[in-house]
Amino acid sequence: MHIIITGGSSGIGAAIAEIEMQRGARVSIVARREEPLRELRAQILAQYPSGQINTWAADVTDAVALERAIEAFEKSFGPCDRLIAAAGVVEPGELISQDMESFRAQIETNLFGTVNAVRAVYSGMVQRQSGQIVIISSGAGLIGIHGYTAYCASKHALAGFAETLRQEAKPNAIAVSICFPPDTETQQLAAELPLRSPAASAIIGDAKPWPADRVARIIVKGADRGRFEIYPGLQMALLGRFGAVVAPVLRWYFDLKIATVRKNQDH
Ligand SMILES: NC(=O)c1ccc[n+]([C@@H]2O[C@H](COP(=O)([O-])OP(=O)(O)OC[C@H]3O[C@@H](n4cnc5c(N)ncnc54)[C@H](OP(=O)(O)O)[C@@H]3O)[C@@H](O)[C@H]2O)c1
Repeated sequence: MHIIITGGSSGIGAAIAEIEMQRGARVSIVARREEPLRELRAQILAQYPSGQINTWAADVTDAVALERAIEAFEKSFGPCDRLIAAAGVVEPGELISQDMESFRAQIETNLFGTVNAVRAVYSGMVQRQSGQIVIISSGAGLIGIHGYTAYCASKHALAGFAETLRQEAKPNAIAVSICFPPDTETQQLAAELPLRSPAASAIIGDAKPWPADRVARIIVKGADRGRFEIYPGLQMALLGRFGAVVAPVLRWYFDLKIATVRKNQDH
């Protein structure tokens, strides 16, 4: 089994890489920075000395570079059996104050980075009539969160992309999954929390973030079972399954929280 993971050098992607190595898969990882890739590779090989792991520094927003990386991976380890598209970035900010460069970067990485990764493996999968594509969205792909206009737009877009790709891929015996993780203890969350607006914190509440390896286990289990939607935890499952039904109530509740925060700030 050959698993290709974008954004696999840290956090959820790295935790998935470890699970897959543990069960003997051949694992290929793309991320931008060489150093974390090298460190992860050394760490995994120390644990699994006969394991097969490949890494390549590329930016998922660069379709040509990503294609080159995936071509090299497939040359070494054979066709991609499962793609995990986990590369993602977040920079909280309200539309009024966020510069367009930052807004665009989130859409470019989270949406187009995923599309680029899928396109790089998809035609091979169609030819072979087999394969699996796992897209990592977010709880922010199920509901709007104040101060996350760009990130929510990118993660909601992934939901629409996956929903449609599933229909196109199924007749070719390709399975598509999309996961909606809640707050998870990763570098991304550590960098994001200080920038989160008080209104967003009030909406999200103070639930403890999930450990990355727990989210990773749920993603791998869901993908193994061929699930389309993968929800780590009850809260995400309820949002995913009933979000549209409870949306008016949630909007009322979120508006109340935002108004309370603004009132407190004014005093
Ligand atoms: N942590 C959370 O609370 C949470 C919740 C819901 C969803 N998610 C989603 O889960 C996914 C994984 O995030 P994480 O929390 O595990 O974050 P993380 O620890 O920061 O990992 C992000 C990974 O993506 C790579 N990456 C970022 N931009 C890239 C680019 N343009 N090209 C190639 N690789 C890139 C990073 O490496 P380089 O920086 O070296 O490129 C790193 O390997 C993301 O899509 C994120 O939005 C996270």
